[in-house]
Amino acid sequence: MKLESMDHWELRAALEWQVELGADEALSEDPVNRYDIPAKPVSAAKPETATAQALPVPEVVGPDPVAEAKSAAARAQDLNALETAMSGFDHCELKRGARNLVFSDGNANARLMIIGEAPDREEDRQGKPFVGAAGQLLDKMLGAIDMARDAVDAEQAVYITHILPWRPPQNREPLPEEIDMMRPFVQRHIELVAPDVIILMGNIACDALLGKRGIQRLRGTWGKAQDVPVMPMFHPAYLLRTPAAKRDAWHDLLEIQAKLRP
Ligand code: URA
Repeated sequence: MKLESMDHWELRAALEWQVELGADEALSEDPVNRYDIPAKPVSAAKPETATAQALPVPEVVGPDPVAEAKSAAARAQDLNALETAMSGFDHCELKRGARNLVFSDGNANARLMIIGEAPDREEDRQGKPFVGAAGQLLDKMLGAIDMARDAVDAEQAVYITHILPWRPPQNREPLPEEIDMMRPFVQRHIELVAPDVIILMGNIACDALLGKRGIQRLRGTWGKAQDVPVMPMFHPAYLLRTPAAKRDAWHDLLEIQAKLRP
């Protein structure tokens, strides 16, 4: 494969493989004579003393990504500003491998907000959440309780976003540090949309906003995140692999419908 046609993650994997093989140095085209005695500097600079050489190199402390995410998110006064703040956030490595920032879809006035995990391949390509196979199932599930992401009426409408706006390579599970640094943005997203009910799709969304995993146990039971009632549900990607679990998902959808329209 030609280097020019490789993406960020392929190049990174190729480099990691070289390191695995024992490469610990990047060689240049030109030979280097390591026995050469470097020429003395001609400048009048002070000679290095033994004491100066022994001084410890001060540790460079970088910015704290979580603190930076918190202040960037807090400054966003509306959804456009939040999207701009997220696209300008450079601390998450996932951004470098993603084609698009996947911010949201649906009606921001909706009473129901759905929070998924992270974009998959198709979502990364189109820059929209839940547009692949799992998204098609999600639309059918919402249709079954008379709701849709493109509905104009806030009662029927749905607003959809993710915990992470960038696709993890090969759809691997998000790392705890990735969740931690993007959590302030999703929390601000919830404040700005101010939904009446939230669906947390799968374990990662539950982990990020409830601090708990174990979707088999959590699903079907109301919880609270930022004072908003939340219903953990099986992720539609899981339902595609495990059709028998659709029965539980149907139960959870009816709970949500009853909460929104008692
Ligand atoms: N999984 C998600 O959480 N979101 C998507 O958009 C697709 C798969």
